[in-house]
Amino acid sequence: MDKLIIEGGVSLKGTVQVAGSKNSLLPILAATLLTKDRCVIKNAPDLRDTVSMLKLLRYLGSNYEFKDHTIVIKPNGTEKVEAPYKFVSTMRASFCVLGPLLSRYRKAKVSLPGGCVIGVRPVDLHLKGLAKLGTKIQVKEGYVHAETRHLKGDHIYLGGPFGSSVLATGNVMMAATLARGTTIIESAACEPEVVDLARFLIKMGAKIKGEGSPCIEIKGVKELHGVEYEVIPDRIEAATLVMAAAITRGEVFVKGARADHMMAVLEKLKDVGISLKILKDGILVKKTMRKFKPFDIVTLPYPGFPTDAQAQFMTLMSITEGISVITEKIYPDRFMHVAELNRMGAQVKREGPYAIVHGIKQLSAAPVMASDLRASAGLVLAGLVARGKTEVSRIYHLDRGYERLDFKLKQLGAKIERAKE
Ligand code: EPZ
Repeated sequence: MDKLIIEGGVSLKGTVQVAGSKNSLLPILAATLLTKDRCVIKNAPDLRDTVSMLKLLRYLGSNYEFKDHTIVIKPNGTEKVEAPYKFVSTMRASFCVLGPLLSRYRKAKVSLPGGCVIGVRPVDLHLKGLAKLGTKIQVKEGYVHAETRHLKGDHIYLGGPFGSSVLATGNVMMAATLARGTTIIESAACEPEVVDLARFLIKMGAKIKGEGSPCIEIKGVKELHGVEYEVIPDRIEAATLVMAAAITRGEVFVKGARADHMMAVLEKLKDVGISLKILKDGILVKKTMRKFKPFDIVTLPYPGFPTDAQAQFMTLMSITEGISVITEKIYPDRFMHVAELNRMGAQVKREGPYAIVHGIKQLSAAPVMASDLRASAGLVLAGLVARGKTEVSRIYHLDRGYERLDFKLKQLGAKIERAKE
């Protein structure tokens, strides 16, 4: 396993390119199961999760090539309808093959996703939506057994106790594309990645309206054809890179960042006192020596503040003098990074879904351990500003969702090295 060794104290400078969106690409890859034609997907980020999804699709009978951020993929006629535990347990997004398999082959056997450190990750909304489309569902021995004579459109409410569900919206939307009649999804997720999936499906010939709003209408069609498509930039990677520039009081142009996908994050950064300039092809973080102002965040479904940026913001709060409060409304247990930041001298107190951060002048280096994708990004940011050399271990978590983040930061002047643990 790899670790990162980061010597804090460098103000980052230069230009860095945002990669394609992981959370856009993964459901789009699942959607390639909906056609027997070849699909070409561009701006695909080179991540562990990308490879995990491609391996699952190969197991399900697709051939693919992945190079220079372009995936060429085509079912090879030996379709399987079972997604085994060994694939789904490593990556929850694999559960998104359920809708497409049902839609194409009228049956599927998909492992329930494993647990996850950020919290209980139920799939009840996925199953509720697919059942409403006329699927007979049985959950036994850790697998979802689903079959249908034919999927039939219906009016589905997909709201859960924590609001909308991104992947449940994707799963049901994909299943509805080849169902008979019209499906309306109420309380649909509005994330840009759901819009990107809808746009991919529309290009394949699906009839979808309302994507990006809480009400999506899908009119079933007979079949879908292959397409060429470019996924959107990764708004969470972009937010992480903007934060790296801001927290180190650097001057960095984050090329490709789409400000219109990041309004909640950018508004919050302005409140803190960070100087940003929105340009047509990215976001310029300008150097400022202004004192950061303490602030609060509440994580919410899009367009609210993204839970995937919560850990990174906690790091910023930890060196912002005063009291800042995080309310985690999506994953109330998504605080594995608290103990690790406190090892670096942060003063964070967790109370249920709340984290109260008492900002200090400076963090101090310590060996810390990554626990999940976004927590590891928060720890890397902490290492960039801590006094001394911080070692972040188990960074395979980071490599799941960030394309060579250490290399990108190094290009901006960070003293960061990857080493074997
Ligand atoms: C997506 O996960 C993202 N993953 C997550 O990003 C992100 O944190 C999450 O959306 C919320 O924005 C991908 O897109 C691959 P949800 P998803 O279903 O769709 C509850 C990352 O770091 N819920 O929107 O699985 C659930 O418990 C990852 O890139 C149900 O109750 O999340 C949560 O509280 C981490 N029943 C809330 O809804 C369900 O059937 C939102 O979850 C499904 C979800």
